[in-house]
Amino acid sequence: MKKALYILLAIIIIAQFIRPSRIAEPVDPAMDMIAVTKPDAEVAQMLRTSCYDCHSGQPRYPWYFAITPVNWWMNDHIEEAREHFDATTWGSVEGYARDHQAKDGMEEMDKKEMPISEYFYLGRHAEAKLTEAQYSKLSAYFESLRDGSWDIEKARRKAAGEIK
Ligand code: HEC
Repeated sequence: MKKALYILLAIIIIAQFIRPSRIAEPVDPAMDMIAVTKPDAEVAQMLRTSCYDCHSGQPRYPWYFAITPVNWWMNDHIEEAREHFDATTWGSVEGYARDHQAKDGMEEMDKKEMPISEYFYLGRHAEAKLTEAQYSKLSAYFESLRDGSWDIEKARRKAAGEIK
């Protein structure tokens, strides 16, 4: 029994050396969402505080990112989040893909589904919680970025039988 405990402890300690690398991409102001879309100060602040930890190339890492396996779990969230919507590269996303991201952003705000609930576990990130009014404001912001090109693309894909 004691031996099993030591082995477990050894595994936990060794695991601490196996960490995902931190994302810290250089900011290209020409491509960053806030720089490109120039929202008012409140929207810019909300995006930075409530979204950029997962949807940008400059997440702020808390101390517990040093702990394996917590860091892998967080890293997964960041990678998955950025596949869907990346504020850092907003300016380089073109055409209907950008409209699609804006539409998703609007819908997530309407459903109040972001930030993901895990972000708030154990009372963390209280400052990132959004009020009803803030969700509406962010929804209107994402809507203002839309040009409708995704709807046209979607209709084309439907007509071509590519999607239902
Ligand atoms: C703690 C990490 C985290 C934070 C903070 C966060 N998100 Fe996300 N977001 C995710 C993850 C993970 C996914 C992908 C899985 C999913 O859709 O739940 C995602 C997906 C999305 C998507 C794509 C949804 C789709 O239908 O494809 C959008 C848009 C989005 N988030 C917007 C936002 C906005 C806007 C904010 C800030 C108000 C925000 N997120 C804050 C983790 C986060």
